[in-house]
Amino acid sequence: MTASVLDGAAIARQVFSGLESRVAALRAAGVRPGLATVLVGDSPASQVYVRNKQRACEEVGLHAQVRELPADCSESELLAAVEALNTNDAIHGIIVQLPLPRGIDSQRVLQSIALEKDVDGFNWSNLGALVDGHPRLVPCTPLGVMRMLDHAGIALEGRHAVVIGRSSIVGKPLALLLIARGATVTVCNSKTPDLAAYTRSADVLVVAAGRPKLVTGDMVKPGAAVIDVGINRMPDGKLAGDVDFESAKAVAGWLSPVPGGVGRMTVAMLVANTVLAAERQSAARCA
Ligand code: GUN
Repeated sequence: MTASVLDGAAIARQVFSGLESRVAALRAAGVRPGLATVLVGDSPASQVYVRNKQRACEEVGLHAQVRELPADCSESELLAAVEALNTNDAIHGIIVQLPLPRGIDSQRVLQSIALEKDVDGFNWSNLGALVDGHPRLVPCTPLGVMRMLDHAGIALEGRHAVVIGRSSIVGKPLALLLIARGATVTVCNSKTPDLAAYTRSADVLVVAAGRPKLVTGDMVKPGAAVIDVGINRMPDGKLAGDVDFESAKAVAGWLSPVPGGVGRMTVAMLVANTVLAAERQSAARCA
């Protein structure tokens, strides 16, 4: 078997075209959805991610602004910058690009973002709503993975989904979304003994461990959907996923590549969350 490759760029374009009429309706009502990104320091990787997010927003007609702060800024300066965006009516979504410099309490900063503008979905209240099956704003990477699976028409109800990775940003919220769709979900991590015993029984395998080539073809159930969330910078400067693409491709039914897979979906779902946040905020103002 040779897997069908899940093209994140193509699926992201479909997400964007689905947003066009919603953005047009908002703009007709005098609302231009706005995303603000807070970027602390000058990490080249973060600068690239932020630029990609900004570009995607502008492509769909959103307003995108970046609030840059120096690497040595204080936590209170950062909190003040977030608070100014919380009360700015032109801004409907706020993200603070991670990681933050040492010495800054990331959780305190993330929890200070207004709930209705938390388009990363990292606020404990938004994560809690997801736990209880009433999602409000959901983290973008898990949303992007679900969108990819749906795009490929992959059934989830009654299937075994294995997630490798237990972060609050990807693994845990994704497990909740899969549970909500009727999958039987196992959450592993890179230290799980005999990881292959789990992965070989997975109809859907999502790998978000941050370990290059952790999953090889011999660990994949024939015909399974394999979604690679890993983005690892290798010593030669190239990007590699957590899945060994070539060996997995020979076994899986569907496989997402790195780059060009989930990364594109994360950005698309951030734009989608910003549009959703703008719709809700403008409806709340009209009520
Ligand atoms: N850094 C790496 N991924 C992310 C993300 O999804 N959101 C934010 N805010 N920072 C990140």
